[in-house]
Amino acid sequence: STPLNTAIVQAGKKYLGDMSDFPELNDEQYLGTLKTPGLFGQMTPGNSMKWDATEPTRGQFTFSNGDAIVAIADSAGQIMRGHTCVWHNQLPSWVSSGGFSAEELTEIVEEHVKGVVGHWAGKMRNLLTQTPISDSWDVVNEAFNDDGTMRESVFYTTIGEGYIATAFNTARAADPNAKLYINDYNIEGTSAKSTAMINLVKSLKSQGVPIDGIGLQGHFILGQIPNTLVQNMQAMTALGVEVAFTEVDIRVELPETEETREQQKADFNKVVEACMQVEGCVGVTLGGFTDKYSWVPGTFPGFGAALIYDEEYVAKPAYDGIVDAI
Ligand code: XIL
Repeated sequence: STPLNTAIVQAGKKYLGDMSDFPELNDEQYLGTLKTPGLFGQMTPGNSMKWDATEPTRGQFTFSNGDAIVAIADSAGQIMRGHTCVWHNQLPSWVSSGGFSAEELTEIVEEHVKGVVGHWAGKMRNLLTQTPISDSWDVVNEAFNDDGTMRESVFYTTIGEGYIATAFNTARAADPNAKLYINDYNIEGTSAKSTAMINLVKSLKSQGVPIDGIGLQGHFILGQIPNTLVQNMQAMTALGVEVAFTEVDIRVELPETEETREQQKADFNKVVEACMQVEGCVGVTLGGFTDKYSWVPGTFPGFGAALIYDEEYVAKPAYDGIVDAI
């Protein structure tokens, strides 16, 4: 059948991509599948553009791994999603330990966003044609608790909600061409958290804060895909922003069986089909593609097998679930 990205682009979406990083990007077999023509049209770095990776010491930026990933994506004909500027996890200790005044931490956020987004605004482009391949940025990640209240990160407790507007304003100035996203999990279907996200984006837009999209991470559990994906995404796009699935995986309570594989096929089908049904859903990024390198087993003990290829790079039924949805 037609490879996934080729098919989804023919159907009017921008990309079917995946999240990748080192060490897997050093694995020849991994690269072989990743670079299969037409298979993946977009890449999000799993770790290399995060704060601990890019600004381990204040004002000293390290971009080498991120640059290497951009080069790989470019050589595979893929556009990029930058990930992620302001998040409570994977912070260097000089940030997470806090102790700053609101004014000082605001400055720190501005310096970081400007440093990182500004660097890749110039660098995420095709070397030959100079066409930008930086499609979008997850400027703020996981700002909410599941009950819809604001997460008490160092940013929120020190600065208040205003850190979000600061981050977006700074990102827009640093890269006027990138689509700027707020990204979160458990906002895929209607929920208190999704309502909170919708209210925040509405308020940001009414204040003139430059925000272009809502990223739905899509870390699902087998058989538990919400029935309200389409309705929820339509409520989001009605605000005048685009949406995308940004890190989709569907975790299975191990062991995997023929039945779980068939259920997972139906689940991936449901997720991608929801994006196909919503005009403002621009694309789908998987949280990796092979179970060999998925973050799931390490984070959710007893769960795994969350992606569309097995550990031997053989496509699982889930692959055809996506094909059928497109
Ligand atoms: C994960 C990475 O995949 C892992 O390699 C890392 O150890 C932890 O973070 N939400 C996000 C992603 O936005 O950045 C996270 O990625 C998964 C949860």
